[in-house]
This record gives sequence, structure tokens and C-alpha cells, in this order.
Amino acid sequence: MADAHLTRLPDDTANILQARAGTLSPAKFAHVVCLTSQLDVMRDWYMIVLNATVSFENDRLCFLRYDDEHHRIGLIRYDDLQPMPAAPAAVVDHFAFTYRDLPELLGTYLRLKALGITPYWTINHGPTTSIYYKDPDGHKIELQVDNFTNEECDAFFAAGKYEENPIGVIFEPEAWIRRYADGEMVASITSRPALPPGMTPHDMIRL
Ligand SMILES: [Fe+2]
Repeated sequence: MADAHLTRLPDDTANILQARAGTLSPAKFAHVVCLTSQLDVMRDWYMIVLNATVSFENDRLCFLRYDDEHHRIGLIRYDDLQPMPAAPAAVVDHFAFTYRDLPELLGTYLRLKALGITPYWTINHGPTTSIYYKDPDGHKIELQVDNFTNEECDAFFAAGKYEENPIGVIFEPEAWIRRYADGEMVASITSRPALPPGMTPHDMIRL
């Protein structure tokens, strides 16, 4: 058993660290790690979709990076995984990746479409424009762009717009690309329209 004086924390330092931690949130969100039985397939999909590169891999795991973080996606191989639950379950629903502006998001949509990767849901949530894909294991991946600043987003919620329609309005990326080509301002394109006549927010859901 270790001597107590070797394991006891110095009171002053411990108090300072703990007091500072009282106002701290994490510096950033670092990564997502998925278990998979098809490591190569998942690796290739994320490399394509995120324009990512492999920062480390062996026959058991793979780390993928696309920015200054060593790995944003981790994949770990297990050979006998349970299938994803079909019914709603207490699991992570989706991972979201933000692009810098609408042209980047629409360009990525076109790039992936040309490679045969198409979304299952294109939705203008209001605060974000979001294009959802499913990875080869069925995880939902949201590629998005912020439509608002945080202040505009606060105003959107305060005005009751989210209560009115918490899902959004489905959009057609090709129609938006045509509007962008015609010179329409991005803020105008992404301004969330009313629901189509006779439809409810629930009608805008795609799973
Ligand atoms: Fe999301």
C-alpha cells in the first residue's frame, strides 16, 4: 500500500484546480468512435464523405482526420456485433458536421451524388440547412450549414418559430443550386418557408 503522503493531493493546488474547473466546459468536441464489423467499408465511406485521410490504422482500428484534430472519427473492428436497433432506442441518433457556407454544402452534395452517395433527407430546419446520409452501418450523418448567427438563432426560438415547426421544411438541393446560380442571396435561399399546404411538421420527417 502506498504511503499516504505520496498519494495525498496538495490542498492549495487541488483547491485552485477544482475552483477553476467550476467554470470550465470542454475546450472542444474531439471525436466520435464507432464499432463496426466492416472496418474497410466504413473507413472508405468516411474518407469519401468527409474528404478525410487515415491518421492511423491497423487490422483492429482506424483513425480518420480532416482538420487539425488527430482523429475526428475512430473505427474499431468487432466481428460479432449486434445489429443496430430497429425501433427507437436510447442510442446516439446522429453525428453532425458543419460546413463554412451554403456553397460548400451544396458542392459537397453534388460531389457525393456523383459518387453514388445520396442523402435520405434534405431539410431546412430553420437554424440549419441539413443534408442527412446513412453510413454503411446505418449511422445517420448530418452535413449542415448554419443559417443563423447564435443571436439570430436565439431570436428564432424566442419568436416561437421552433415550437411552430420543430422539424423544418424539406428542400430540393438542385432547386437551391439553380436559385444560387441565378444570383439569389444565400440568406434568402435558406430562409425557411411555410410548410406546404395541408402538411404538418411530422410530414417533413424522413428516417
Ligand atoms: Fe443535428
